[in-house]
Amino acid sequence: MHPLQCVLQTQRWGPLASVSWLLLRTCRALSSLPSTAYPSPEKQQEDGVQKDFSSRLATGPTFQHFLRNASAPQEKPDMEDPPPYVTVEELLGRQRKVYLETYGCQMNVNDTEIAWSVLQKSGYLRTRNLQEADVILLVTCSIREKAEQTIWNRLQQLKALKTKRLRSRVPLRIGILGCMAERLKEEILNREKMVDILAGPDAYRDLPRLLAVAESGQQAANVLLSLDETYADVMPVQTSPSATSAFVSIMRGCDNMCSYCIVPFTRGRERSRPVASILEEVRKLSEQGLKEVTLLGQNVNSFQDSSEVQFNNAVSTNLSRGFSTNYKPKKGGLRFAYLLDQVSRVDPEMRIRFTSPHPKDFPDEVLQLIHERDNICKQIHLPAQSGSSRVLETMRRGYSREAYVELIHHIRESIPGVSLSSDFIAGFCGETEEDHLQTVSLLREVQYNMGFLFAYSMRQTRAYHRLKDDVPEEVKLRRLEELITVFREEATKANMASVGSTQLVLVEGHSKRSATDLCGRNDGNLKVIFPDVEMEDINNSDVRVRAQPGDYVLVKITSTSSQTLKGHVLCRTTLKGSSAYC
Ligand code: 5AD
Ligand code: SF4
Repeated sequence: MHPLQCVLQTQRWGPLASVSWLLLRTCRALSSLPSTAYPSPEKQQEDGVQKDFSSRLATGPTFQHFLRNASAPQEKPDMEDPPPYVTVEELLGRQRKVYLETYGCQMNVNDTEIAWSVLQKSGYLRTRNLQEADVILLVTCSIREKAEQTIWNRLQQLKALKTKRLRSRVPLRIGILGCMAERLKEEILNREKMVDILAGPDAYRDLPRLLAVAESGQQAANVLLSLDETYADVMPVQTSPSATSAFVSIMRGCDNMCSYCIVPFTRGRERSRPVASILEEVRKLSEQGLKEVTLLGQNVNSFQDSSEVQFNNAVSTNLSRGFSTNYKPKKGGLRFAYLLDQVSRVDPEMRIRFTSPHPKDFPDEVLQLIHERDNICKQIHLPAQSGSSRVLETMRRGYSREAYVELIHHIRESIPGVSLSSDFIAGFCGETEEDHLQTVSLLREVQYNMGFLFAYSMRQTRAYHRLKDDVPEEVKLRRLEELITVFREEATKANMASVGSTQLVLVEGHSKRSATDLCGRNDGNLKVIFPDVEMEDINNSDVRVRAQPGDYVLVKITSTSSQTLKGHVLCRTTLKGSSAYC
């Protein structure tokens, strides 16, 4: 069997395996005692021997000793038990330095923190300097071809680094993590012999073992997708101590199967993290002084925690009006509205956002909650993908343009002043000029505050098998340009409406463009720039203060563009204290 095959087929060792390893150690310890440790009854009659045996027993290892050694091997940090073919020592990082590089979406940023948390526990160190790295791990993305091409190019550069590595140093190990590892599997190892390890999005706990196998010069991979892995117990390592905000992963995977999308194939089935562990993480972040949490997932609002049996009633999900799913309706469990309610109660001074939702899962209770709760930002991402009902049908989005527009109206009525953003794909299979114009008209009609626009990139999905990628590249790009132009015009108009208003801004730090300006975000997540000057503190009018990262300030907006707002600061405040002014 090829060594790679062997590793690919290795299941992640579960509790059963760890028990058998525990027994193995105990038995080995017992059998290593000399045979006289078990004298026959006849021999026990002889006084001398009896004495010898008793004294050996008294000085020898106790039962507690075996238990202690078996359950907490020395030098073994908080990590899982090894399979029989690697030792505990081989699993240890032994101060080797890991360099992590992240590509793709925010989920990948969060996954990088999870992977790092696992490696840190195993005794690895982190470096920000590529040259001093012993292990380089790329956390990759597959959503568009360009994202993958970037990684192939990066691997060529790393190949040179690996070849030039001095013999006096430990060999450099290179790993591909995340979506590209999952999608391409062995193809990466076969094409790029210098890649040592592959770990799919559900295999980060296995990184110490994969690296241990790689130490012996073999390639190692784990691309198994899981039905229940949420890394609920792996606290991501906050990499920027000065940060004011953090992302908290609440669910993974996707069951929607939109025809263009690779995510269900790279990240597997939808599964949610237990509410209790999410709340615990949010509480910790609040204690650390963070002021903003974004709940994260491929379909955040499809959240469904079924771990608490008493909540598994038979009630089906409430879908938005006019929306349908590609899967059987999900029943029971704790849903997104409950989670959002609970999370927002942890700390009234902590802003709550969520991304990325699907428009089908916006029942009224979610909209009401966003409207009522001061610290839930009035900002909704509502990925439309296209403005043409015909294209939406071939995309398998589960709604028509009319249903989508009705939802927009309903959201605007339910949450006055809500800020809206969306994703669009230009040039999907079979998209005609008329379809494209429908998308242009949707952009005009809704007037989004933010937009993420992409040219269609054929992936090995349902569309690849059943539809034709028949819009020429130059047409896709031209349509994309047109969408970007229209989006910008409309966003500029939408943002203009905020001139003269007072906005609550969470300060992030100095503006990148000017050291005399501060930069932060308003409730709608737009960037706000304002001069760094002394101001009044609303809770203490005797002192004048300068705003620090993590402070809330009130800013009067004086000018805008399609991406940013500018203004002057009025005072430092609190989230609760600001409601009377904004
Ligand atoms: N080509 C282009 N854009 C895509 N997206 C997803 N799959 C593709 C693809 N094959 C876009 C969608 C999605 C966002 C995260 O990426 O707009 O909402
Ligand atoms: Fe890219 Fe999607 Fe994977 Fe995120 S989930 S890394 S966007 S393919």
